Amino acid sequence: MKNSKIQGILDKAKEAIESADSVETFNSIKSFFLSRKSELMSMMSTLGTLEPEERKEFGQELNQAKEEISKSIDEKIEELSKKELAEKLAKEQIDISLPSSNFTSGGKNPFHVIKDEIVDIFLGMGFDVADGPEVESDEYNFKLLNIPDDHPARDMQDTFYISDNVLLRTHTSPVQAHVMQQAEGKPIRIICPGKTYRRDDDDATHSHQFAQIEGLVIDKNINIGHLKATLELFVKQMFGEKREIRLRPSYFPFTEPSVEVDITCANCDGKGCSMCKGTGYIEILGGGMVHPNVLKMNGYDPEVYSGFAFGVGIERVAILRYGIDDIRRFYQNDVRFLHQYRKKA
Ligand code: DAH
Repeated sequence: MKNSKIQGILDKAKEAIESADSVETFNSIKSFFLSRKSELMSMMSTLGTLEPEERKEFGQELNQAKEEISKSIDEKIEELSKKELAEKLAKEQIDISLPSSNFTSGGKNPFHVIKDEIVDIFLGMGFDVADGPEVESDEYNFKLLNIPDDHPARDMQDTFYISDNVLLRTHTSPVQAHVMQQAEGKPIRIICPGKTYRRDDDDATHSHQFAQIEGLVIDKNINIGHLKATLELFVKQMFGEKREIRLRPSYFPFTEPSVEVDITCANCDGKGCSMCKGTGYIEILGGGMVHPNVLKMNGYDPEVYSGFAFGVGIERVAILRYGIDDIRRFYQNDVRFLHQYRKKA
């Protein structure tokens, strides 16, 4: 540089650039030396006052100094960001050759495997899935099912009462009344899976919370043959073609006649063994023809319509299907138990 002032600025700038070590400092150096108010730029504004010859040389030197400063700052910034990136990458490096930590995948609880299978079987027969509240009124849980106050059948279902008239449903049967009232006299073909509650001391075969699937079919000319055929199809699909069913007379206030349904024991094929207490059969569910009072109370004329209903314990089906020894296993979430059903899920 011929101009010693420009050379001086350039030297000062270079010195500052050499000693800077952050992007921030570089930016302030840039602004100090090259902003409109900088020494270099104010010298630019004097160009117009110079003689053409002088102006050309002075102008060129100014531009050259400006470019040099700007270029070396940009280079330094780039260098710095590359360095920062390299440091960051080195710090955050992951070793993909390390073995992964143990990963186990979950699966469906056998309860859900069976529930879904039961639902699928009935969907295949043209049933719809209905739903109802778990917190019920006494009216729906009992009265509309032909179980008035003081009926002895109430004793069979020890109940969690919330108030005198509100309780946790003891069975899924109240959904029958809800569905009938909503259907307003039209034919019905539904199942309803859901939780049910009874005050029970929990042991291998009892649980204060369990689950049922309710079934209800109402139409003209429905008879007990339809109930038997439906349940036979269900049992064969759930337990295999070899299973036979047997209908035994029973009593439920909301069905007449009522039946208890047994299936041939899987252990002895109906010959009689210790599992079926020598009878060859194991009880699986309850059902019957919907009682005329229940039809009437829920908006159906029993002279025109008839229907069948059934209720099946989901855990009971799962216990029989898998040979599970204790109902509490479904709820305890012991992975040693659950893992046995992982592949089936
Ligand atoms: N609600 C009965 C129970 O929990 C089971 C049952 C029996 C349901 C007969 C029905 C039925 O729909 O028709 O013990």
